[in-house]
Amino acid sequence: MKPLAHVGKALAHDSAALHVSGAAVYIDDIAEIEGTLHVAPGFAKEGAKGKILSINLAAAQAAEGVVAVLTAQDIPGKNDCSPVAGDDPIFANGKIEFHGQVIFAVVAKTRDAARRAARLAVIEIEKQKPDVTVADALASNGDLLPPYAFTSKGVVAALKNSTHRHAGQLKIGGQEQFYLEGQVAYAIPQEKGGMFVHSSTQHPTEIQHCVAAMLGIDDAQVICQCRRMGGAFGGKESQAAQWAAIAALAAHITGHPVKCRLDRDDDMMLTGKRHDFEATYEVGLDKSLRIAAVDVLLAARCGYSADLSAAICDRTMFHADNAYFYPQYKIATRRLKTNTISNTAFRGFGGPQGMVFAEAMMESIAIQHGCDALELRKKNLYTKQRNTTPYGQKIDEHLVGKIMATLEKTSSYQKRRKDNAKFNAKSSILKKGLALTPVKFGISFTNTMMNQAGALVHVYGDGSVHLNHGGTEMGQGLYQKVAQVVAEVFGIGVDKITITATRTDKVPNTSPTAASSGSDLNGMAARNAAMAIKARMAEVAGRQHGVHPSKVTFWDGQVSAKTKSSSFAALATACKGARVSLSATGYYSTPAIHWDRATGRGHPFFYFAYGASCSEVLVDTLTGEMKVSRVDILHDVGHSLNPAIDIGQIEGGFVQGMGWVTTEELVFDAEGRLRTHAPSTYKIPCASDVPEDFRVALYESKGNKADTIYRSKAVGEPPLMLPISVWCAVMNAIASLKPGTVPKLDAPATPEAIMRAVKSLGVK
Ligand code: MTE
Ligand code: HPA
Ligand code: MOS
Repeated sequence: MKPLAHVGKALAHDSAALHVSGAAVYIDDIAEIEGTLHVAPGFAKEGAKGKILSINLAAAQAAEGVVAVLTAQDIPGKNDCSPVAGDDPIFANGKIEFHGQVIFAVVAKTRDAARRAARLAVIEIEKQKPDVTVADALASNGDLLPPYAFTSKGVVAALKNSTHRHAGQLKIGGQEQFYLEGQVAYAIPQEKGGMFVHSSTQHPTEIQHCVAAMLGIDDAQVICQCRRMGGAFGGKESQAAQWAAIAALAAHITGHPVKCRLDRDDDMMLTGKRHDFEATYEVGLDKSLRIAAVDVLLAARCGYSADLSAAICDRTMFHADNAYFYPQYKIATRRLKTNTISNTAFRGFGGPQGMVFAEAMMESIAIQHGCDALELRKKNLYTKQRNTTPYGQKIDEHLVGKIMATLEKTSSYQKRRKDNAKFNAKSSILKKGLALTPVKFGISFTNTMMNQAGALVHVYGDGSVHLNHGGTEMGQGLYQKVAQVVAEVFGIGVDKITITATRTDKVPNTSPTAASSGSDLNGMAARNAAMAIKARMAEVAGRQHGVHPSKVTFWDGQVSAKTKSSSFAALATACKGARVSLSATGYYSTPAIHWDRATGRGHPFFYFAYGASCSEVLVDTLTGEMKVSRVDILHDVGHSLNPAIDIGQIEGGFVQGMGWVTTEELVFDAEGRLRTHAPSTYKIPCASDVPEDFRVALYESKGNKADTIYRSKAVGEPPLMLPISVWCAVMNAIASLKPGTVPKLDAPATPEAIMRAVKSLGVK
């Protein structure tokens, strides 16, 4: 194969210079059209569940600068912004189901005036006791969605007959996405009742559809555009819709352009987060400590409505094995209704919670049996013989064992284990912990229908290229990667390609940019579009030079046939002259995947992304303070489309996941109010939390076994699960206080959780 000129190069993100100079245009930076108004959502100060007895908006209406006050009654079409189930009212009507549920909105001349006026509303709620915790939900609201399980026939017998048995319980916390750019939308009324909406969304098509249904107009009358998001992390897959709908409603009613930009505290209170879970499990092992059977119940707090919870909890089940073979299994989920904000997508989409369970189980077994956790993990990996997942997909690429073995060496795991044992024997309060854990993450939307994408490519007469596709840019570098793909196809520099904003009128009927599949799907769609144009251009060049089109090559800005060559630009001009179209759409849908939820069998993932990490921590068992002293990562991205971007994704994903399992704690009070709605109380990692010794390497891949775009692998979400090794290392450190006893440690391992775990050991 000819070497690649653009794909695989560590080029900077297309907006890197704009990001760091402040010149990148986010929605709030778009020059406001004259007459632009601002809308702010309003909610009841008290109450999380109950009938709305009265809404008095007179004071808000009369406030300085207020233009209009909107409620459910003002919506001409459908009062819903849900992604699936039709159960998320844009404005609560009759009752509220969580604290902060939006009941009305104020449109004013300034954002400040709108927000101040929104506070003047007097809303009376017939307050009922909300269900806040898993226990509350089990006792009262119950299931929001039907329970679902993967169950093998022999699980009960296998558990009963196993040599060793081990039971455990674990709380796994939620997580706030904390994108830097909050939720924002800017709606501009169009002729004949149409609407143009700039939205910071991973899913422009859904914004288009939601706004059209809300206004009671055709999808074709609404355009949604997104040039870039200042981070999304799943928090803008479904959760951007409400604010776009409110902005569009305000624009429709006032006839002015209207912007809706949430305040940070409101953003945290009014938008969904990662699901928190409670896991209860029993595992049976044979005498060599191979798992014989696993029985786990994962109970999720879904919040008040379905949102994406069905698919998210399914993904938790798909990842409750992580990289391990369970010969017999019952992997059950409950999807509980709580009177809290509806939980939603967050990097990993439920997968991380399943994997924390698997790794907590592994760490606990190792502690209980006094064996090395890495040995135990290796012994239980999928192999060529033991290769069937609990959902029937066979693992055909056995990389994770190799990755772990390499990392074991490069991180000096064995030596450091010994050194730590010596250190811990002498140090009574400070304890070191070390853990090496694998990641196996399934790539594809588990809703097979969603695995499709489209692109639109134009070549202009001067040989410059306009690139558009259905994927959205949230900082992950998708636009840059797809541009490199198109540059490769045409054999021209990336500088000749103009990357343009995602718009529903350019590429329709798109899936959200999610499930890490952005470059897999849109890269292929754009490649297909470019290939179609290239074929037409090759025809023209072939005619010019008297060769078969297949003999024409595109390389380094030149188009060559035998000894003759011309520039790509000259050929583009010639094509225009010859009346040959230089514009094409491209389309791609992932082959070979299928999933039958009714039987719980299928092949839902096109392939798996793999990685492993080794983390060392130092824990102060007197105060609960903890420091991550060193991290080694080896991660597989196949043939990288752009190694600089991929390493950035690995580093960022790791640190974000580390925050999830160590410091980020969402606290709801008994009244269902989120008490941690700002960075003052909700602790995301900051620059100084990045491990001092942080060694990230890409696995030397022979290329993805699956036929993906240039044999690359998705990288967006998998690295978030690498830092599960940090949590396991904390377990390892605490367990050194009393070998053989499993500390009761929940996730996140905050100082308080660490102190509780130390206390659970009953040592002085
Ligand atoms: N990286 C940055 N910088 N910002 C983000 O919001 N989102 C993550 C991941 N990496 C995110 C990110 C999530 S949740 C997903 S699904 C993928 O990027 C989506 O993009 P991709 O499919 O192009 O990888
Ligand atoms: N991942 C992310 N987002 C999704 C998925 C998924 O598997 N399914 C539906 N939305
Ligand atoms: Mo990512 S949680 O699939 O948006």
